[in-house]
Amino acid sequence: MRAPYHEIGVVNTKEGFRKAMEGGYAVPAYNFNNMEQLQAIIVGCAESRSPVILQVSKGAREYANQTLLRYMAMGAVRMACEMGANIPITLHLDHGDSFELCKSCIASGFSSVMIDGSHLAYEENIKLTKQVVDYANPFDVSVEGELGVLAGIEDDVSAEKSHYTDPKQVQEFVGRTGVHSLAISIGTSHGAYKFKLKPGETVPPLRFDILKDVEKKLPGFPIVLHGASSVLQKYVAMINEYGGKLEGAAGVPEEQLREAARSAVCKINIDTDGRMVVTAVIRKIFVENPKEFDPRKYMGPARKELIELVKHKNTNVLGSAGRY
Ligand code: G3H
Ligand code: 13P
Ligand code: ZN
Repeated sequence: MRAPYHEIGVVNTKEGFRKAMEGGYAVPAYNFNNMEQLQAIIVGCAESRSPVILQVSKGAREYANQTLLRYMAMGAVRMACEMGANIPITLHLDHGDSFELCKSCIASGFSSVMIDGSHLAYEENIKLTKQVVDYANPFDVSVEGELGVLAGIEDDVSAEKSHYTDPKQVQEFVGRTGVHSLAISIGTSHGAYKFKLKPGETVPPLRFDILKDVEKKLPGFPIVLHGASSVLQKYVAMINEYGGKLEGAAGVPEEQLREAARSAVCKINIDTDGRMVVTAVIRKIFVENPKEFDPRKYMGPARKELIELVKHKNTNVLGSAGRY
């Protein structure tokens, strides 16, 4: 069955994950909600010759309008081509919370969907994930599932505490659902406050022991890391300097993400870091140029800084730069 995504020019994640696994890097999955974010992701990835997963959450779909999003993604693929970049681009649903949402995204041209049943009881998670996989397979759309719970907000799915993934469950979960990649919980969480640190404390290491156990149970299977922003202190400081209030924000150190990317982790999700760059630049401009009211004069510089962030992540953190 010819899937709607062929018309958009995007690809599923299967070949990209195989190459990432072989090459010891991870494919970046950046969230976008508007034109400037999308432009920055595409330019950053085209210029650094990195594959990319364009991620759309349920909230982003509601914010930007699903029809507009479809054509924005189509335009993004065309733009990358015109830049001479032959990079694979995936259009992916982030944290899909229902079968209907996944189905609707597949119909509108997504080449990959996540069904997040991590908050459900184990058997319910299996049932829902399998339902999405069975629907997606004839279209050759890739499906990401999740086992284990990340603390923080995942659209409508919120959790106070994280529950690490139990490596004993992963083989059965993948076998019974037929899912194509698996998000696991090893100590990351969503948003800008990933760790509550007391003065003098440093960020605790991710649970690489769990990741290793998962890899042993699922050799060669693509693993996904959510909540992987580093909450770069340069931008936290800039936001606070120009009137913001983000005290104590902390993320996953970049060296730990680089280490994860060398393993079976084939997809690393980044949203918060991009949001912070945009906020920091705009805050600075508003304080320094209170008379400015042309959105291009503050969205433009924010986009420029975001391009640099994307290139930095691809080159120094995920290792995905220069692969195409
Ligand atoms: O994991 C959540 C992503 O950062 C998307 O966030 O639901 O606010 O669009 P959002
Ligand atoms: P961050 O909040 O750490 O950027 O995580 C994003 C994410 O996991 C999107 O699914
Ligand atoms: Zn996530």
